[in-house]
Amino acid sequence: MPERYEEVLDRVAAKFRRTAEQAARAGIIPYQSRDGKWLTSPYDGNGWWTGGFWPGLMWLLWYRTGDDFFRDEARRTGELLAEEFRRFRSLSHDVGFMYLLSCGADAKLTGSGQARTDTLHAASLLMGRFNPAGFIRAWNEPDRVGYAIIDCMMNLPLLYRASRDTGDPRFRQVAKIHADTTLRVFLREDGSVSHIVEFDPQTGRRVREHPGQGCFLGSQWSRGQAWGLYGFALAYRHLEDERYLEASEKIARNFIAHIRPDGLTDSDFCQPAGEERIDNLAGAIAACGLMELGRLTGKKEYQDNAVRLTEGLLARCADFGDSRCGILTHCTASYHDDGAGRHTNIIYGDYFLTEALLRLCGRDPELWS
Ligand code: GLY
Repeated sequence: MPERYEEVLDRVAAKFRRTAEQAARAGIIPYQSRDGKWLTSPYDGNGWWTGGFWPGLMWLLWYRTGDDFFRDEARRTGELLAEEFRRFRSLSHDVGFMYLLSCGADAKLTGSGQARTDTLHAASLLMGRFNPAGFIRAWNEPDRVGYAIIDCMMNLPLLYRASRDTGDPRFRQVAKIHADTTLRVFLREDGSVSHIVEFDPQTGRRVREHPGQGCFLGSQWSRGQAWGLYGFALAYRHLEDERYLEASEKIARNFIAHIRPDGLTDSDFCQPAGEERIDNLAGAIAACGLMELGRLTGKKEYQDNAVRLTEGLLARCADFGDSRCGILTHCTASYHDDGAGRHTNIIYGDYFLTEALLRLCGRDPELWS
Protein backbone atom coordinates (compact mmCIF):
# COMPACT_ATOMS: atom_id res chain seq x y z
CA MET A 1 0.00 0.00 0.00
CA PRO A 2 2.66 2.63 0.84
CA GLU A 3 4.07 2.19 -2.70
CA ARG A 4 0.72 3.21 -4.12
CA TYR A 5 0.70 6.36 -1.98
CA GLU A 6 4.33 7.08 -2.89
CA GLU A 7 3.23 7.05 -6.51
CA VAL A 8 0.28 9.38 -5.81
CA LEU A 9 2.64 11.73 -3.97
CA ASP A 10 4.89 11.82 -7.02
CA ARG A 11 1.88 12.91 -9.06
CA VAL A 12 0.98 15.57 -6.49
CA ALA A 13 4.53 16.95 -6.56
CA ALA A 14 4.66 16.89 -10.36
CA LYS A 15 1.38 18.76 -10.65
CA PHE A 16 2.38 21.48 -8.19
CA ARG A 17 5.80 21.76 -9.82
CA ARG A 18 3.90 22.69 -13.02
CA THR A 19 1.27 24.96 -11.57
CA ALA A 20 3.09 26.72 -8.70
CA GLU A 21 5.19 28.65 -11.19
CA GLN A 22 2.03 30.47 -12.24
CA ALA A 23 1.47 31.61 -8.64
CA ALA A 24 5.10 32.71 -8.34
CA ARG A 25 4.86 34.73 -11.55
CA ALA A 26 1.63 36.38 -10.36
CA GLY A 27 3.21 37.13 -6.96
CA ILE A 28 0.20 35.78 -5.05
CA ILE A 29 -0.61 33.35 -2.27
CA PRO A 30 -3.08 30.92 -3.89
CA TYR A 31 -6.38 30.24 -2.18
CA GLN A 32 -8.29 28.31 -4.85
CA SER A 33 -7.98 27.36 -8.47
CA ARG A 34 -10.59 28.15 -11.05
CA ASP A 35 -10.58 28.14 -14.88
CA GLY A 36 -6.95 27.06 -14.99
CA LYS A 37 -5.78 29.88 -12.72
CA TRP A 38 -4.74 30.33 -9.11
CA LEU A 39 -6.85 32.91 -7.30
CA THR A 40 -6.11 34.75 -4.05
CA SER A 41 -8.40 34.59 -1.02
CA PRO A 42 -11.69 36.45 -1.45
CA TYR A 43 -11.22 38.37 1.82
CA ASP A 44 -8.49 40.26 3.71
CA GLY A 45 -5.77 39.77 1.08
CA ASN A 46 -2.74 37.94 2.44
CA GLY A 47 -4.02 38.41 5.98
CA TRP A 48 -6.83 35.91 5.60
CA TRP A 49 -6.61 32.84 7.79
CA THR A 50 -5.78 30.41 4.98
CA GLY A 51 -2.51 32.08 3.91
CA GLY A 52 -0.27 29.50 5.61
CA PHE A 53 -1.54 26.48 3.70
CA TRP A 54 0.21 27.30 0.43
CA PRO A 55 3.66 27.71 2.01
CA GLY A 56 2.84 24.69 4.20
CA LEU A 57 2.10 22.63 1.11
CA MET A 58 5.31 23.86 -0.53
CA TRP A 59 7.27 22.82 2.58
CA LEU A 60 5.66 19.36 2.49
CA LEU A 61 6.67 19.01 -1.15
CA TRP A 62 10.21 20.27 -0.51
CA TYR A 63 10.53 17.76 2.31
CA ARG A 64 9.26 15.06 -0.01
CA THR A 65 11.27 15.89 -3.15
CA GLY A 66 14.26 17.99 -2.07
CA ASP A 67 13.47 20.25 -5.06
CA ASP A 68 14.53 23.75 -3.98
CA PHE A 69 11.86 25.31 -6.17
CA PHE A 70 9.36 24.33 -3.47
CA ARG A 71 11.51 25.78 -0.66
CA ASP A 72 11.89 29.07 -2.54
CA GLU A 73 8.16 29.26 -3.24
CA ALA A 74 7.43 28.54 0.43
CA ARG A 75 9.78 31.35 1.45
CA ARG A 76 8.43 33.78 -1.15
CA THR A 77 4.94 33.43 0.26
CA GLY A 78 6.18 33.16 3.86
CA GLU A 79 7.65 36.64 3.42
CA LEU A 80 4.30 37.98 2.23
CA LEU A 81 2.77 36.59 5.41
CA ALA A 82 5.50 38.14 7.56
CA GLU A 83 4.49 41.54 6.13
CA GLU A 84 1.09 40.98 7.73
CA PHE A 85 2.72 41.31 11.17
CA ARG A 86 3.02 45.03 10.49
CA ARG A 87 -0.52 45.37 9.13
CA PHE A 88 -1.74 43.48 12.19
CA ARG A 89 -5.41 44.38 11.96
CA SER A 90 -6.62 41.39 10.00
CA LEU A 91 -4.69 38.90 12.13
CA SER A 92 -6.85 36.72 14.36
CA HIS A 93 -6.41 33.54 16.41
CA ASP A 94 -5.65 31.91 13.06
CA VAL A 95 -2.03 33.08 13.31
CA GLY A 96 -1.57 29.41 14.27
CA PHE A 97 -2.63 28.18 10.83
CA MET A 98 -0.84 31.04 9.10
CA TYR A 99 2.55 30.95 10.75
CA LEU A 100 3.09 27.43 12.05
CA LEU A 101 2.91 26.18 8.46
CA SER A 102 5.05 28.98 6.98
CA CYS A 103 7.87 30.28 9.22
CA GLY A 104 7.16 27.49 11.71
CA ALA A 105 7.79 24.88 9.02
CA ASP A 106 10.88 26.76 7.81
CA ALA A 107 12.31 26.83 11.34
CA LYS A 108 11.56 23.16 11.83
CA LEU A 109 12.85 21.88 8.49
CA THR A 110 15.81 24.19 7.85
CA GLY A 111 16.69 25.57 11.30
CA SER A 112 16.43 29.17 10.02
CA GLY A 113 16.92 31.61 12.91
CA GLN A 114 14.75 34.34 11.35
CA ALA A 115 11.94 31.83 10.83
CA ARG A 116 12.21 30.78 14.47
CA THR A 117 11.96 34.42 15.57
CA ASP A 118 8.94 35.02 13.32
CA THR A 119 7.27 31.90 14.74
CA LEU A 120 7.75 33.18 18.30
CA HIS A 121 6.39 36.54 17.23
CA ALA A 122 3.24 34.82 15.93
CA ALA A 123 2.93 32.80 19.16
CA SER A 124 3.12 36.04 21.14
CA LEU A 125 0.28 37.45 19.04
CA LEU A 126 -1.81 34.37 19.84
CA MET A 127 -0.97 34.79 23.54
CA GLY A 128 -2.10 38.40 23.28
CA ARG A 129 -5.58 37.16 22.38
CA PHE A 130 -5.93 35.22 25.61
CA ASN A 131 -8.71 36.37 27.87
CA PRO A 132 -7.87 35.33 31.48
CA ALA A 133 -11.59 34.59 31.92
CA GLY A 134 -10.63 31.32 30.22
CA PHE A 135 -10.46 31.42 26.41
CA ILE A 136 -8.58 32.67 23.37
CA ARG A 137 -10.55 35.29 21.50
CA ALA A 138 -11.24 34.25 17.90
CA TRP A 139 -11.96 37.39 15.88
CA ASN A 140 -11.49 41.16 16.08
CA GLU A 141 -14.94 42.69 15.52
CA PRO A 142 -15.98 44.82 18.51
CA ASP A 143 -19.20 42.82 18.91
CA ARG A 144 -17.26 39.54 19.04
CA VAL A 145 -15.06 40.18 22.07
CA GLY A 146 -16.34 37.02 23.75
CA TYR A 147 -16.30 34.65 20.75
CA ALA A 148 -14.24 31.47 20.75
CA ILE A 149 -14.38 28.76 18.08
CA ILE A 150 -13.54 25.06 17.82
CA ASP A 151 -11.04 25.71 15.00
CA CYS A 152 -8.71 27.27 17.58
CA MET A 153 -7.79 23.80 18.83
CA MET A 154 -5.65 23.62 15.66
CA ASN A 155 -4.01 26.98 16.43
CA LEU A 156 -2.78 25.79 19.84
CA PRO A 157 0.19 23.85 18.36
CA LEU A 158 1.86 27.24 17.81
CA LEU A 159 1.82 27.67 21.59
CA TYR A 160 3.14 24.16 22.30
CA ARG A 161 6.01 24.92 19.92
CA ALA A 162 6.77 28.27 21.59
CA SER A 163 6.99 26.73 25.04
CA ARG A 164 9.31 24.05 23.75
CA ASP A 165 11.52 26.57 21.92
CA THR A 166 11.78 29.06 24.77
CA GLY A 167 11.52 26.82 27.83
CA ASP A 168 8.80 29.21 29.04
CA PRO A 169 5.70 27.29 30.23
CA ARG A 170 3.31 30.24 29.81
CA PHE A 171 2.48 29.39 26.20
CA ARG A 172 1.40 25.85 26.98
CA GLN A 173 -0.36 26.96 30.17
CA VAL A 174 -2.54 29.28 28.10
CA ALA A 175 -3.11 26.50 25.56
CA LYS A 176 -4.22 24.23 28.38
CA ILE A 177 -6.70 26.73 29.81
CA HIS A 178 -8.22 27.22 26.37
CA ALA A 179 -8.33 23.46 25.70
CA ASP A 180 -10.01 22.86 29.07
CA THR A 181 -12.66 25.47 28.29
CA THR A 182 -13.23 23.92 24.86
CA LEU A 183 -13.57 20.48 26.44
CA ARG A 184 -16.04 21.72 29.04
CA VAL A 185 -18.18 23.95 26.82
CA PHE A 186 -17.92 22.81 23.17
CA LEU A 187 -17.95 19.01 23.42
CA ARG A 188 -21.48 17.59 23.37
CA GLU A 189 -22.77 14.33 24.82
CA ASP A 190 -23.11 12.70 21.37
CA GLY A 191 -19.45 13.36 20.49
CA SER A 192 -20.15 16.34 18.24
CA VAL A 193 -18.77 19.84 18.92
CA SER A 194 -20.18 23.34 18.63
CA HIS A 195 -18.55 25.69 16.14
CA ILE A 196 -18.85 29.06 17.91
CA VAL A 197 -19.48 29.76 21.58
CA GLU A 198 -19.88 33.28 22.92
CA PHE A 199 -18.62 33.94 26.44
CA ASP A 200 -19.09 36.91 28.74
CA PRO A 201 -15.66 38.50 28.31
CA GLN A 202 -15.69 39.76 31.91
CA THR A 203 -16.58 36.53 33.68
CA GLY A 204 -16.03 33.72 31.16
CA ARG A 205 -19.63 32.57 31.61
CA ARG A 206 -21.08 30.84 28.53
CA VAL A 207 -23.63 33.19 26.96
CA ARG A 208 -24.80 31.29 23.88
CA GLU A 209 -23.81 29.18 20.89
CA HIS A 210 -23.83 30.50 17.31
CA PRO A 211 -24.38 28.34 14.21
CA GLY A 212 -21.25 29.61 12.43
CA GLN A 213 -20.45 27.76 9.21
CA GLY A 214 -22.86 24.91 9.95
CA CYS A 215 -26.37 24.24 8.70
CA PHE A 216 -28.31 25.51 11.74
CA LEU A 217 -27.88 26.24 15.44
CA GLY A 218 -26.87 23.04 17.21
CA SER A 219 -26.04 21.17 13.98
CA GLN A 220 -22.75 19.40 13.26
CA TRP A 221 -20.56 21.36 10.81
CA SER A 222 -18.26 18.61 9.59
CA ARG A 223 -15.10 20.71 9.32
CA GLY A 224 -15.56 21.86 12.91
CA GLN A 225 -15.78 18.19 13.91
CA ALA A 226 -12.52 17.55 12.05
CA TRP A 227 -10.74 20.49 13.72
CA GLY A 228 -11.87 19.21 17.12
CA LEU A 229 -10.82 15.62 16.39
CA TYR A 230 -7.32 16.55 15.20
CA GLY A 231 -6.90 19.44 17.65
CA PHE A 232 -7.65 17.36 20.75
CA ALA A 233 -5.38 14.55 19.52
CA LEU A 234 -2.54 17.08 19.25
CA ALA A 235 -3.46 18.56 22.64
CA TYR A 236 -3.07 15.10 24.17
CA ARG A 237 0.24 14.59 22.42
CA HIS A 238 1.67 17.86 23.74
CA LEU A 239 -0.13 18.38 27.06
CA GLU A 240 -0.40 14.69 28.02
CA ASP A 241 -3.84 14.97 29.63
CA GLU A 242 -5.89 11.79 29.05
CA ARG A 243 -9.13 13.79 28.91
CA TYR A 244 -8.04 15.27 25.59
CA LEU A 245 -7.43 11.82 24.16
CA GLU A 246 -10.90 10.74 25.32
CA ALA A 247 -12.37 13.85 23.69
CA SER A 248 -10.60 13.21 20.41
CA GLU A 249 -11.75 9.57 20.38
CA LYS A 250 -15.32 10.59 21.17
CA ILE A 251 -15.35 13.10 18.31
CA ALA A 252 -13.69 10.51 16.04
CA ARG A 253 -16.39 7.91 16.75
CA ASN A 254 -19.09 10.39 15.81
CA PHE A 255 -17.18 11.49 12.69
CA ILE A 256 -16.60 7.91 11.55
CA ALA A 257 -20.32 7.14 11.96
CA HIS A 258 -21.06 9.95 9.47
CA ILE A 259 -18.58 9.13 6.70
CA ARG A 260 -20.61 8.63 3.55
CA PRO A 261 -20.65 5.19 1.87
CA ASP A 262 -18.51 6.65 -0.95
CA GLY A 263 -15.87 7.79 1.57
CA LEU A 264 -16.67 11.51 1.13
CA THR A 265 -17.91 13.90 3.83
CA ASP A 266 -21.05 16.02 3.92
CA SER A 267 -20.64 19.68 4.78
CA ASP A 268 -22.85 19.23 7.85
CA PHE A 269 -23.77 15.92 9.46
CA CYS A 270 -27.27 17.29 10.10
CA GLN A 271 -27.92 18.63 6.59
CA PRO A 272 -31.23 17.56 5.02
CA ALA A 273 -31.23 13.97 3.72
CA GLY A 274 -30.61 13.79 -0.01
CA GLU A 275 -28.87 17.15 -0.16
CA GLU A 276 -25.61 16.95 -2.11
CA ARG A 277 -23.34 19.35 -0.23
CA ILE A 278 -19.92 17.84 0.21
CA ASP A 279 -16.93 19.23 2.07
CA ASN A 280 -13.77 17.33 1.21
CA LEU A 281 -11.77 19.72 3.37
CA ALA A 282 -13.36 18.05 6.38
CA GLY A 283 -12.56 14.58 5.06
CA ALA A 284 -8.90 15.41 4.39
CA ILE A 285 -8.42 17.05 7.82
CA ALA A 286 -10.16 14.15 9.57
CA ALA A 287 -7.97 11.62 7.73
CA CYS A 288 -4.89 13.33 9.21
CA GLY A 289 -6.48 13.57 12.66
CA LEU A 290 -7.46 9.90 12.60
CA MET A 291 -3.92 8.90 11.69
CA GLU A 292 -2.60 10.97 14.58
CA LEU A 293 -5.11 9.25 16.85
CA GLY A 294 -4.11 5.85 15.47
CA ARG A 295 -0.48 6.63 16.28
CA LEU A 296 -1.34 7.76 19.81
CA THR A 297 -3.65 4.84 20.68
CA GLY A 298 -2.36 2.01 18.47
CA LYS A 299 -6.00 1.34 17.44
CA LYS A 300 -6.28 0.06 13.90
CA GLU A 301 -9.81 1.34 13.29
CA TYR A 302 -8.54 4.93 13.15
CA GLN A 303 -5.94 4.15 10.51
CA ASP A 304 -8.51 2.09 8.57
CA ASN A 305 -10.99 4.95 8.50
CA ALA A 306 -8.25 7.41 7.51
CA VAL A 307 -7.51 5.13 4.56
CA ARG A 308 -11.22 4.96 3.75
CA LEU A 309 -11.42 8.77 3.66
CA THR A 310 -8.24 9.19 1.63
CA GLU A 311 -9.31 6.52 -0.85
CA GLY A 312 -12.69 8.24 -1.25
CA LEU A 313 -10.95 11.52 -2.06
CA LEU A 314 -8.51 9.95 -4.50
CA ALA A 315 -11.13 7.85 -6.29
CA ARG A 316 -13.75 10.57 -6.72
CA CYS A 317 -12.37 14.03 -6.23
CA ALA A 318 -8.67 14.21 -7.13
CA ASP A 319 -7.92 15.98 -10.40
CA PHE A 320 -4.39 15.41 -11.70
CA GLY A 321 -5.13 16.89 -15.12
CA ASP A 322 -4.05 20.29 -16.40
CA SER A 323 -7.36 22.12 -16.66
CA ARG A 324 -7.25 22.95 -12.95
CA CYS A 325 -4.21 24.17 -10.95
CA GLY A 326 -5.06 22.43 -7.66
CA ILE A 327 -6.04 18.81 -7.04
CA LEU A 328 -8.84 18.23 -4.51
CA THR A 329 -12.33 19.16 -5.74
CA HIS A 330 -15.64 19.54 -3.87
CA CYS A 331 -14.29 21.66 -1.04
CA THR A 332 -16.94 23.84 0.61
CA ALA A 333 -15.97 26.75 2.83
CA SER A 334 -19.30 27.07 4.60
CA TYR A 335 -22.63 25.24 4.53
CA HIS A 336 -24.46 28.49 3.70
CA ASP A 337 -22.53 30.06 0.88
CA ASP A 338 -20.25 32.81 2.21
CA GLY A 339 -18.47 33.56 -1.07
CA ALA A 340 -15.38 31.58 -0.07
CA GLY A 341 -16.16 28.62 -2.32
CA ARG A 342 -18.56 25.71 -2.74
CA HIS A 343 -17.73 22.38 -4.39
CA THR A 344 -14.47 23.80 -5.66
CA ASN A 345 -10.74 23.40 -5.14
CA ILE A 346 -9.52 25.20 -2.01
CA ILE A 347 -5.89 25.19 -0.99
CA TYR A 348 -6.12 23.64 2.44
CA GLY A 349 -7.78 20.61 0.86
CA ASP A 350 -4.59 20.06 -1.12
CA TYR A 351 -2.49 20.73 1.98
CA PHE A 352 -4.28 18.11 4.11
CA LEU A 353 -4.55 15.59 1.27
CA THR A 354 -0.76 15.82 0.87
CA GLU A 355 -0.20 15.56 4.62
CA ALA A 356 -2.46 12.47 4.66
CA LEU A 357 -0.48 10.86 1.82
CA LEU A 358 2.82 11.57 3.58
CA ARG A 359 1.43 10.04 6.76
CA LEU A 360 0.30 6.96 4.82
CA CYS A 361 3.87 6.58 3.55
CA GLY A 362 5.29 7.06 7.06
CA ARG A 363 7.08 10.24 5.93
CA ASP A 364 5.18 13.10 7.56
CA PRO A 365 7.44 15.97 8.71
CA GLU A 366 4.99 16.69 11.58
CA LEU A 367 4.57 20.40 10.96
CA TRP A 368 2.00 20.64 13.78
CA SER A 369 4.58 19.66 16.39
N1 GLY B 1 -11.06 28.11 10.35
C1 GLY B 1 -12.15 28.48 9.54
C2 GLY B 1 -12.66 27.40 8.67
O1 GLY B 1 -12.38 26.23 8.85
O2 GLY B 1 -13.37 27.74 7.74
